[in-house]
Amino acid sequence: MNFFTAKTATTKTSGDLLVFPIFQKKKKAVVAPLLDATDGGVRPSAPGSAKVPNLAQKIKKAGFAANAESFLQVYCSNTKSGWLLITGMGEVSEVGLDTIRKIAGQAAKKAREMKAKKVLVQVPEVGILGFDDATFARTWVEGAEMALSETGALKTKKKSPLLPAQWSFLASAKRLAALDNGIKQGTTFAAGCLFARRLVNAPPNYLTPSAMAAEARKLAKDEGLNCKILKVPQLKKMKMGGLLGVGQGSVNDPCLIVLEYRSKAPKAPKIALVGKGVTFDTGGISLKPGANMDHMKSDMGGAAAVMGALLIAARMKLPVNLTVIVPAAENMPDGNAVKPADVITMANGKTVEVLNTDAEGRLILADALWYAGKGKPDYIMDAATLTGACVVALGEHFAGVMSNSGELTDALRQAGGETFERVWPLPLIDEHKDAMKGTWSDLTNLGPREGGALTAAGFLSFFVDEKTEWAHIDIAGPSFKTSASATCPKGGTGFGARLLARAVQLLVS
Ligand code: BES
Ligand code: ZN
Ligand code: ZN
Repeated sequence: MNFFTAKTATTKTSGDLLVFPIFQKKKKAVVAPLLDATDGGVRPSAPGSAKVPNLAQKIKKAGFAANAESFLQVYCSNTKSGWLLITGMGEVSEVGLDTIRKIAGQAAKKAREMKAKKVLVQVPEVGILGFDDATFARTWVEGAEMALSETGALKTKKKSPLLPAQWSFLASAKRLAALDNGIKQGTTFAAGCLFARRLVNAPPNYLTPSAMAAEARKLAKDEGLNCKILKVPQLKKMKMGGLLGVGQGSVNDPCLIVLEYRSKAPKAPKIALVGKGVTFDTGGISLKPGANMDHMKSDMGGAAAVMGALLIAARMKLPVNLTVIVPAAENMPDGNAVKPADVITMANGKTVEVLNTDAEGRLILADALWYAGKGKPDYIMDAATLTGACVVALGEHFAGVMSNSGELTDALRQAGGETFERVWPLPLIDEHKDAMKGTWSDLTNLGPREGGALTAAGFLSFFVDEKTEWAHIDIAGPSFKTSASATCPKGGTGFGARLLARAVQLLVS
């Protein structure tokens, strides 16, 4: 889909559908702006004929109260586009950025249903909402793009996508520059999210560790990034016993993917993003139950998020030196698989007794975090579908953040509020680290059942320099959905790509 701006000529601009957002006041639709622009469904060519009701009357008759996310489809004879989609915005005081995304998403789906190729959007006066035109356009574009994200890539009978090819934001001339700027941002943020969703939704027989490496190479080529893939011999040289151990039960070898975006800005801060890339998690020898095991194709949601964030950062040319590190492996049961009571030695030299092969994420992340630290970054953030415990604690709408840095936690909370990829802080304390100390080895990979998300973070902390600002984000809850929402079909949500990109933007600006 392509987004443009045009000087307001609401009734005269041609298109297949005119989307007209209106507010609600005291439970009633505020029709005033409509009256200025599109009133007068009177047919002048039919002298003597009865007046057709005007829009305000039609809205009243339909009992349309402009509740947020409600719609009214009406025909208006004196607009060039004919069809109008009146979209309820709700009360001014209640409209948040995600209201805009949802409304845009619903409008996009309606437009697709109506087979509208060119959609016009009458930009409302957003000043009263406390945000600017650029923000409106950015979030609208995100919502529309995200709502129509691809789901049928592997169907043999291809439905032609029939997406609205062209969208035009209509506003007065002086507002167009800001709207254009917002369009650029929105397109970029949406692209990062859709990139992540595509990887999460890819079946695990397609997206093996080496296929993920190929995706990384392609991303690097498309976006002008450096890319390095470290394969088994190199992992052995670096003594990455965690990544090798998790991968050793699979015929698909593990690898470490390293992507770099280098800004031309002088003294740009160094940030490392690490993403869990388990392309399928069977649990290994500690095999998971069969029900819903297919969801474990999403166990590389962290990897998808950090790669999506990198795409955004590079396209936005953020003043940052960003390194993305993805440990990629498939966790399988096999004669050669790691088993409970095995002791493995990690890249930083620590020994770990594997008490449960299903707690594999922390093992591969440990080596990747150590690798990230070698680059002496100012900040490290990792994203991982790490624990069921985090899902139990926070549900599907929040990721958990465990961090040694107030600055990172604040940046993530703000970024989460804006992108609606929301995070909630959870404690990271010495007791949770101590719970991971071993009897036969330095550490074990299994803590007590209680506080499982917290002890998992405690385990990871042994692989991060104490002085480095670090945040661990457990995205097990929000990264995969079994039902669709206004802006996301069921499946991978792409959670984290926009969140991390926005957090990076906040940290470096
Ligand atoms: N990939 C899972 C965590 C997960 C659970 C992600 C639900 C998404 C949805 C992870 O590797 C895992 O299995 N963790 C175990 C750890 C336990 C054995 C300490 C868990 O959470 O049960
Ligand atoms: Zn697991
Ligand atoms: Zn896992």
